[in-house]
Amino acid sequence: MRIIVVENYDEMSKKAALMIASQVMLKPDSVLGLATGDTPSGMYKELINLYGKKEVDFKEVRTFNLDEYYGLDRENSQSYYKYMMTNLFDNININTENINMPDGMAKDVNAFCDLYENKIKTLGGIDMQVLGIGGNGHIGFNEPNVNFEAQTHLVELDEQTIEANSRFFESIEDVPVKAISMGIKTIMNSKKIILLANGLNKADAIERAVKGKINPSIPASILQLHNDVTIIIDKDAASKL
Ligand code: GLP
Repeated sequence: MRIIVVENYDEMSKKAALMIASQVMLKPDSVLGLATGDTPSGMYKELINLYGKKEVDFKEVRTFNLDEYYGLDRENSQSYYKYMMTNLFDNININTENINMPDGMAKDVNAFCDLYENKIKTLGGIDMQVLGIGGNGHIGFNEPNVNFEAQTHLVELDEQTIEANSRFFESIEDVPVKAISMGIKTIMNSKKIILLANGLNKADAIERAVKGKINPSIPASILQLHNDVTIIIDKDAASKL
């Protein structure tokens, strides 16, 4: 694991955006794995800036998102689909046919998950996967006591996650209790991984993921076994290392 500690959120976002831009420069048809949440939104802004300056071109890029709430329509303001369109895709020259997101309304969830996995494999696997981390150490929506062998699947959200994500909804009852998420195996099969974290509320999870034993109770700890992980964190998130 390479750990890069930066001053603040802006610096974290800029470094991560530069890593993605470099990946796309080296391989214009890169397969990117993308994350949602507050953490990567600054990185997406930077990527839009770089695109505006013609420093990166998304014309051939393919993307797969990590996760989506189960039972939320794409058009719901809290769907990760909406998040991605607003925070990135509507503002760059990506071909909409190259965007892949879990379908929160899939009727046959298992069939959908198999299809998602197969499409990732057919395109040659994920070249660079971006991750945030939950306060409980989750990656994607792979909650504590995760099965490290799982691929894309339907997950039940942890109470702590429902609580944390209720900030985006009118009330906690509105937060979906399930999601479709890439599994740990899907994530670990990515060629390169960048994990971003900022703020004191992530310091515990980062310490346990990076320095603790590899343990399903901290899903992110499995990343210690991946051979190309870069962790970009601000001083606060790094405060317990
Ligand atoms: C969410 C997402 C994760 C994200 C994490 C942290 O529930 N499923 O992919 O990394 O929780 O979110 P945030 O960046 O808003 O702190």
